[in-house]
Amino acid sequence: MPIFDTHAHYDSGSFNPDRAEVLASLPESGVGLVVDPGCDVESSRAAIVLAEQYPHVYAAVGIHPEDCGGCTDADFEEIRRLAQHEKVVAIGEIGLDYYWAENPPKEFQQTVFRRQIELALELDLPIIVHDREAHGDSLAIVLEYPDLRGVFHCYSGSPEMAAELLKRGWYLGFDGPITYKNAKRAPEVVAITPLERIVVETDSPYLTPVPFRGKRNDSRLLPYVLETLAEWKGISTEEMIRITWENGKRLFGLE
Ligand code: NI
Repeated sequence: MPIFDTHAHYDSGSFNPDRAEVLASLPESGVGLVVDPGCDVESSRAAIVLAEQYPHVYAAVGIHPEDCGGCTDADFEEIRRLAQHEKVVAIGEIGLDYYWAENPPKEFQQTVFRRQIELALELDLPIIVHDREAHGDSLAIVLEYPDLRGVFHCYSGSPEMAAELLKRGWYLGFDGPITYKNAKRAPEVVAITPLERIVVETDSPYLTPVPFRGKRNDSRLLPYVLETLAEWKGISTEEMIRITWENGKRLFGLE
């Protein structure tokens, strides 16, 4: 069974030297599907171009909280237009990022997040949520929309918050940081997360797992994340690959 990397930024400039080589090598390396989320209009367009070139690549389109400063009605209109492309499977990555002081003001991030949530609901698409140091507000906003579905990407909240999301049908994404020695909360969160709600992500080129931490990440390193999850759940890595493949396809409507 192949691996589904549900979050990788192959449109990133880090892949300029060898993007075609890496993407072409994925199927033979055991990676059968990838979702490439956009972070602004330009990278959303770039993600779609890759999805058009590679049968195993799908795109998500959206405006990331770190990149939303100065976004205009024209940008939202373009995201709406791009979202109707046949290989777009989600609105993302969108959300809240209170980590960086230079990020756009919280209220503005929330407005941009809500606007894209409403677009996802209108188009009946799941969302890919980026929540960094904004757990309370991210949870409160998504819970305002009972029909909203999707994934909390690189989940970093508490087990209590995870329980709230899981109760309402959300998926949780796990990435390279679960392989780091300081991953304290992740084992507790994974313990309460049913197998059928776990998806795996690289967030390439970021969040490289141990033992390659510090190097550029790509989907071929996802087995390190899968092995860690399999160990915590007491199942084989093959079983974890099979379950997360099915989960990703269900989440993004690829069945
Ligand atoms: Ni990302």
